[in-house]
Amino acid sequence: MVFGKSASPTGPVDGWMQSGPSPITLQERFFPHPVRVDRHFATACQPRVLEKRRCCRVAPVTPLLLSLHVLAAIIGFGPAFVFPFLGVMSAREPAHAHVLQRLGELISTRLIIPVALTMAVTGALLIGEMHVDLAKNSWLGASIILYILVMAALILQAPTQRKLIALIDPARGGPPPADEMKPLVSRLRLIGILLAVAIVVIAVLMVWKPGAGA
Ligand code: HEM
Repeated sequence: MVFGKSASPTGPVDGWMQSGPSPITLQERFFPHPVRVDRHFATACQPRVLEKRRCCRVAPVTPLLLSLHVLAAIIGFGPAFVFPFLGVMSAREPAHAHVLQRLGELISTRLIIPVALTMAVTGALLIGEMHVDLAKNSWLGASIILYILVMAALILQAPTQRKLIALIDPARGGPPPADEMKPLVSRLRLIGILLAVAIVVIAVLMVWKPGAGA
């Protein structure tokens, strides 16, 4: 195939002299076969794709933000699904309940909450970078509201967790007061279930984006 001065809307191609009958566009030159231009790359630089071959290779901000965002979802919210198991083990082995609940509180305050908070930052940057119109993407608005509820639940459950830990501390001496523990355990269980459901719903909304751009 020969290359020539392009008659494409993107303008002439310097350096590619016409030596044949059919001038070709830059797109045909650099993407001669059907190419799947990823939506995330395309949003950021599609207008420049046809002008400069390297465009999509040197604009990694959106994919980088998206990677950090998705990694935070996995690393931050993944461990939240371990809590029900900690609860079951605590009930089965009361002798280890104190350590198990302390572990739960540590994971919640040192891993889940800080990492999940970064999602609001990367999410907001993604909205700016990808020019997502909140008015036309109600899935995003719904996800943000759910996210705020999830974060509030995570932060508000910490005192309940600490109260329970204090009650089952072996250093107190004697058996833990069952009547005081029961409401705390029930509250933590309910919050745990609601958290898990909300996290799954947010993740599905983020990936599915029902009615996106409508
Ligand atoms: C304030 C909170 C959040 C904001 C503002 C936000 C914003 C965004 C935006 C703008 C995108 C790009 C959407 C697109 O590709 O068009 C995105 C993608 C994504 N978000 Fe969020 N997000 C938030 C929280 C979350 C949470 C809590 C999760 C998980 C539980 C999550 C999981 C994902 C996933 C998996 C994607 C990739 C979707 C895809 O590429 O198909 N996000 N988010």
